[in-house]
Amino acid sequence: VLIGSNADQVARIAADNVLAGLAEHGAGQRQVLGLATGSSPLGLYRELGKAVSESRADFSEALGFALDEYIGIPDTHEQSYRQTLINEVCNVIGLRAENLSVPQGTGASVPAVQAAADAYDAAIKASGGIQVQILGIGANGHLGFNEPGSALTSRTRIKRLAAKTREDNARFFAGIEHVPTHCVTQGLGTILDADRLVLVATGAGKADAIAAAVEGPLSAACPGSVLQLHRDAVVVLDEAAASKL
Ligand code: GLP
Repeated sequence: VLIGSNADQVARIAADNVLAGLAEHGAGQRQVLGLATGSSPLGLYRELGKAVSESRADFSEALGFALDEYIGIPDTHEQSYRQTLINEVCNVIGLRAENLSVPQGTGASVPAVQAAADAYDAAIKASGGIQVQILGIGANGHLGFNEPGSALTSRTRIKRLAAKTREDNARFFAGIEHVPTHCVTQGLGTILDADRLVLVATGAGKADAIAAAVEGPLSAACPGSVLQLHRDAVVVLDEAAASKL
């Protein structure tokens, strides 16, 4: 657990830990990054963009795998996580949109969406695996869209969104009735397969979730507690998010 004294420092510490995690894989190996949406990692992405502009990093050949996607809106919708990641990550760090993979939230049927989710897990494996997975955490402890109650060994699959998550994300839509009810998310087991996890959380609203994830019992009631099972999980916080540790 690393605590920064302000938002800029949190972003820099997180970016340094992402770059150090990638560097462990050697220059000859293609970079494979796991990408989270949400406001928490935006400063981290900005710092990675800065590293690119200073020639300390280069993501032009990197592969990106998103954590999750909504079901029920097309991937061209401005609030789809594909579009969000293109705007907030690809355009900032120079990762090519064609090298970005996002779970498929549209399909002819539930089995078709789940088959695509299985193929997504297989594609992550085929890439050699995610070297660094960037994460935020929901106020209810969710990782990706693994809501409380998610199986700790789960793989990429269809999930229903918790009421709290739909309320939290309603600000991005014209009203709560427009927020999708379901999603496809990497499972907790999928997330744990990454070589390094870098989770960013800021603000008092995340303090309970962080305390439960970092110091609480390992429990599906707080999906973030799976971090405790990972041998290389870096949690970067500001003072407010760390205040209940
Ligand atoms: C969303 C995403 C998560 C993200 C969380 C927190 O629901 N699916 O991946 O970590 O919200 O978002 P924020 O960082 O904006 O608080």
